[in-house]
Amino acid sequence: MTLWKSIFLLCIFLLAALYGCETLKSSKALIPIKEYERMLVGRIDANYIGTDRCLSACHSHDRIRRDFEASTMGVQMSGQSNMPQVNCESCHGPGSLAVENVTPELVAKDAAEAKETACKYDTFIDLKNLPSQAKSLLCLRCHSENATLNLHNWNAGAHALSDVSCFDCHNVHAGPSLITQPKDTRDMCLKCHQQQAAEFSLPSRHPLMEKKIFCTDCHDPHGTAGEGLLKEDTLKETCTRCHGEKEGPYAFEHADINDDCAACHSPHGSVNNNLLIVREPFLCLQCHQGHTTTDDASTRVSKGAYYTRCTDCHSQIHGSDLPSASGKGMFIN
Ligand code: HEC
Ligand code: HEC
Ligand code: HEC
Ligand code: HEC
Ligand code: HEC
Ligand code: HEC
Ligand code: HEC
Ligand code: HEC
Ligand code: HEC
Repeated sequence: MTLWKSIFLLCIFLLAALYGCETLKSSKALIPIKEYERMLVGRIDANYIGTDRCLSACHSHDRIRRDFEASTMGVQMSGQSNMPQVNCESCHGPGSLAVENVTPELVAKDAAEAKETACKYDTFIDLKNLPSQAKSLLCLRCHSENATLNLHNWNAGAHALSDVSCFDCHNVHAGPSLITQPKDTRDMCLKCHQQQAAEFSLPSRHPLMEKKIFCTDCHDPHGTAGEGLLKEDTLKETCTRCHGEKEGPYAFEHADINDDCAACHSPHGSVNNNLLIVREPFLCLQCHQGHTTTDDASTRVSKGAYYTRCTDCHSQIHGSDLPSASGKGMFIN
């Protein structure tokens, strides 16, 4: 092999490798869980001191504390339930070093200068900058799949696999309620899913922008057993939960294609009426030949192009219980 040939091949290889890095998200090394656990221990030379000692000296975290104590998670701070106890240090790590120098004298002196006394933040776990798997593990220590059922498929879900962590959607200090309201999910999801934002702005669309339907009506962001994070086991079930009249069974089925609503519909939005992936008649002409009819439109005649809406006549396109004039299932009535 000539030198030039080798150099050329090397270049191709390097380009391919570079491209591979771009596209294969999973090509980076996976750290064993043990390493993530270690990150969550915090400073081993620090001790747990309890929320009261953490917060009694200065009042800068009063709002966080009030909100937290009122939340379902914070109720656990009372220690009255059988659930795992949650306090500030269960997430932020042991706090003794942080408040070491926070004496009543210092607080009084700072107050005199109209300053707030700061504890040593950098002795806590650096939650913000942890790798995403460690962030999620922080929550999963308590929210195991047994305790929180919808997390059953978390690890295999598209979000966990793409470095999205619990923190990206849940802010435990947002306020006294930790429950995610459907109305908050639109902005939560569209923040990352720009393409879907565009789809939901097309002329025919599910009314998501109008907050009449939500991403979580169809998807479970925590992971699901099936494809596409769909909430139900199949795509059809996902749709017929609201469009029950399309479920069937019918005396005359449109072969088995009615089981795949996405064979004809785009779930988020479309430039075509009725969320159709392709406009009529071309939608139907993908699988059928067009035809012409007699004047009274009751009988089919010769084959040939027919350029109008097929569903003007085949109006029961999802399936019908009544036969057509010739006694067959033609979805006409
Ligand atoms: C369930 C875990 C958890 C508990 C319990 C918890 N925190 Fe946090 N805290 C977090 C997370 C996660 C962040 C955000 C990290 C980031 O910026 O990504 C945070 C951020 C903060 C911040 C930074 C400012 C802010 O609002 O973002 C402060 C201050 C804070 N927590 C104080 C407290 C106090 C005080 C308590 C106890 C009343 C507490 N935390 C309990 C998880 C927790
Ligand atoms: C030390 C244990 C512990 C940790 C760590 C923890 N939680 Fe919790 N969390 C609980 C308990 C206990 C409850 C109340 C019982 C319940 O609803 O499951 C709760 C409740 C919640 C709720 C409200 C559930 C409801 O139905 O009201 C949300 C949301 C939540 N936690 C999110 C998080 C997130 C996000 C993290 C990680 C930043 C986290 N938790 C870390 C123990 C914990
Ligand atoms: C992509 C966004 C997203 C991620 C990532 C995510 N969640 Fe959620 N979570 C939601 C939404 C939205 C809900 C509201 C319930 C629903 O309709 O599915 C929710 C609901 C919950 C609830 C029930 C209480 C509530 O708010 O209704 C708990 C507990 C919870 N999540 C914990 C977690 C934990 C722990 C993680 C990380 C392992 C996590 N979530 C990751 C979006 C997310
Ligand atoms: C922090 C960014 C982020 C947020 C917030 C987020 N996602 Fe995602 N989501 C991703 C990434 C990254 C992927 C994987 C790459 C891809 O398919 O686009 C993904 C994938 C998906 C998929 C495709 C699953 C598959 O198997 O193809 C669905 C569905 C989805 N997200 C729904 C949601 C919903 C619903 C919400 C709001 C509750 C949400 N996402 C919030 C980043 C995010
Ligand atoms: C009416 C139900 C429905 C709603 C509402 C919905 N989706 Fe989907 N979504 C689907 C279906 C069905 C698929 C296709 C799944 C498949 O083919 O496996 C899908 C696919 C996706 C995918 C994978 C890529 C793609 O486009 O095929 C992402 C990402 C996604 N949805 C995000 C979102 C987000 C974000 C929202 C809210 C802004 C949302 N979806 C609202 C039904 C819905
Ligand atoms: C949570 C309920 C819900 C689910 C689930 C749902 N839809 Fe819808 N769908 C609606 C609503 C609401 C409308 C708007 C009705 C209106 O505007 O009168 C709609 C409208 C439609 C339309 C007509 C759109 C137009 O331009 O007039 C089609 C087609 C449709 N949905 C198909 C589907 C398919 C396919 C699925 C499964 C991927 C699905 N829907 C899942 C609630 C739902
Ligand atoms: C063979 C293609 C095809 C399949 C498969 C299909 N649809 Fe449709 N759908 C159409 C056409 C075409 C229209 C427009 C009908 C019209 O203009 O009269 C439509 C209209 C709709 C509408 C709005 C008008 C109405 O009748 O309410 C909804 C909702 C709908 N379909 C839901 C579904 C659901 C749910 C599934 C899966 C169970 C499904 N479709 C499967 C072709 C299909
Ligand atoms: C993805 C392919 C596909 C699409 C798209 C499709 N069909 Fe079909 N259609 C079929 C199959 C398969 C059958 C069953 C054929 C059979 O049993 O010989 C069928 C049966 C029919 C029949 C009954 C004919 C017979 O011989 O039993 C009519 C009428 C029909 N389709 C009309 C339509 C119309 C109108 C559209 C557009 C709105 C459409 N189809 C879209 C695949 C499709
Ligand atoms: C003016 C009404 C009308 C329109 C528009 C129409 N059809 Fe038909 N179609 C019929 C009638 C009537 C029959 C015969 C019914 C019977 O045999 O009982 C038929 C039969 C069929 C059959 C069964 C043919 C076979 O070989 O057995 C198919 C497939 C079909 N149409 C598809 C289409 C498609 C695709 C379009 C749109 C390009 C379309 N039709 C438009 C009225 C119409």
